[in-house]
Amino acid sequence: MCGIVAAASQSNIISILADGLKHLEYRGYDSSGIAFIQNKNISSYKKQGNVSELTQSLDKKLNANIGIAHTRWATHGKPSKENAHPHISNNNIAIVHNGIIENHLEIKNKFFKDLTCSSETDSEILAHLINFYRKENEIFEAVYLALKEVKGSYAIAVLDKKNPEKIIVARNGSPLLIGLGEKINFIASDAQALIEHTNKFVYLEDGDLATVTAEEVKIYNKDKESIRRETKKSKLSLNSNSKNGYKHYMLKEIFEQPEAVRATIQDRIINNSVPKEILGPNAKEYLSKFKVVQIIACGTSYHAALVAKHWLERLAGIPCHAEIASEFRYRRHAVQKDTLLICISQSGETADTLSALREIKEEDFYVGTIAVCNVPESSLARECDSTLITHAGPEIGVASTKAFTTQLAALMLLVIVLGKRFEITAELENSLCMQLKSLPEKIKSTLDLDNKVAELAKIFSDKEHALFLGRGSHFPIAREGALKLKEISYIHAESYAAGELKHGPLAIVDENMPVIAVAPNNVVLEKLKSNLEEVKARGGKLYIFADKKAGFKNDDISQVFEIDAPMNPVSPILFTIPLQLLAYHCAIIKGTNVDMPRNLAKSVTVE
Ligand code: F6R
Repeated sequence: MCGIVAAASQSNIISILADGLKHLEYRGYDSSGIAFIQNKNISSYKKQGNVSELTQSLDKKLNANIGIAHTRWATHGKPSKENAHPHISNNNIAIVHNGIIENHLEIKNKFFKDLTCSSETDSEILAHLINFYRKENEIFEAVYLALKEVKGSYAIAVLDKKNPEKIIVARNGSPLLIGLGEKINFIASDAQALIEHTNKFVYLEDGDLATVTAEEVKIYNKDKESIRRETKKSKLSLNSNSKNGYKHYMLKEIFEQPEAVRATIQDRIINNSVPKEILGPNAKEYLSKFKVVQIIACGTSYHAALVAKHWLERLAGIPCHAEIASEFRYRRHAVQKDTLLICISQSGETADTLSALREIKEEDFYVGTIAVCNVPESSLARECDSTLITHAGPEIGVASTKAFTTQLAALMLLVIVLGKRFEITAELENSLCMQLKSLPEKIKSTLDLDNKVAELAKIFSDKEHALFLGRGSHFPIAREGALKLKEISYIHAESYAAGELKHGPLAIVDENMPVIAVAPNNVVLEKLKSNLEEVKARGGKLYIFADKKAGFKNDDISQVFEIDAPMNPVSPILFTIPLQLLAYHCAIIKGTNVDMPRNLAKSVTVE
């Protein structure tokens, strides 16, 4: 959700910024821009559209030692050249900003009543405010004073014409890191932008400000006291940013799932048991105390939460609530004493999830917090008592795929650990571990459905609507299938618990409404079959993803896709795969931008 990259060097940084933007494009791709200091002046280039629009327009001869760049996901103001960052005040100050300045109108009324802004953004006003304070202060102080006026979230990088050697940066609620090099230092919202140049990063914390030159980085806390932050070595590699021969990141990430799931479970299952040590030293405190689990997450991660709720209640007998973070945050809950909070997030920077976590930490009823997260250095991973990292590797496609299945694998490990004090016996633990270990091979065989699903997509691609059905722990999988389809193919898709069909949605079923069913061979199979008969009776076309032994047959109304997903708790992970492939192939036929679907961005760092 918007990307920042910046550098201060003794040599030319233009191509570094351009390449960095390319790596950050998955965070936002409505417009992009770059500003740098050349011959004691600030110059800037901005373009609407994706980053290549900008990079192709840059003069190859540009040469600057210091600059800031940004790729935008619009919040305030439509995607346009005017609204693209950097925002420049009076040719003195240029800023790039991620986050939202919530009181931008108040600031405008207080300081710049008569000013006509050149953009519709909340960010421009911050550039003017820094320029205002700059008149009587040196630049660091000006940024500090300006930020004191700001309510909201920000990660910013600021250029000052009068200080052509330094960039001022600050963070509050939006991620920002400093990359360390030789005679060059970098700034980015995400390590992936810089991994070509360095693997040494300093992660700023909320309230931090810093000055960055080619030779030196100085960090200060919110009270302007000089502080040290640890330098961390990233394990990211350049390879993780490549498509590895696949046409799209999403397809590569779908096919990486066997290995990603293997990486997530391996070393965490020892002799068919999951040691509680996977949760780290802080777990001791809450593992013996908690009585109830509350899970919060957004989007696809919320679907993982819904599956985990089923598992916790069914396998372990642990009462569990799962809620969308943006809803959870803004309502009063009747929290039970000794509740354990689990936050699920691929990025670990989702604003809604983080804000909910921060509020909860103020309350006494929670005994501990666990992050299930894919980014070890993220805010969520740092702020929870324990972190269970999913080893999906970087996920670049905006639509989440391998992050979801690895979340589910990690959540099953967590269910086993949490359940030992409840109803998970050694025998059940043994069986769940065996199921987890069989997953990589089973996912591989499920991926063999690719060609068949690609054929099916031809039927879907001219449809405007689709209905996904499932029951129990497979209802969240139907939801995830519908989300994937609408996200990247723009086909309107809804999901329902199959038993709910007759309570309303059946009214929209006719021969033009494809109905996709997720049909494991489990205790509600017969109920699901009855629900599907209701669809058939209304002329609906059925596409059933079914376990081999579920007993479905092709006929002139239903087409069956068999999956080897025996009746066991981990089967939701397997049923996810063909639904991801279906969304992918529909998007390909429709010619949409699979990796960067319209209006969306990865890592939603605004509320
Ligand atoms: C959908 C998708 C989003 C994210 C959601 C939460 O494919 O990717 O729905 O799941 O924005 O993001 P994280 O998991 O990073 O908190």
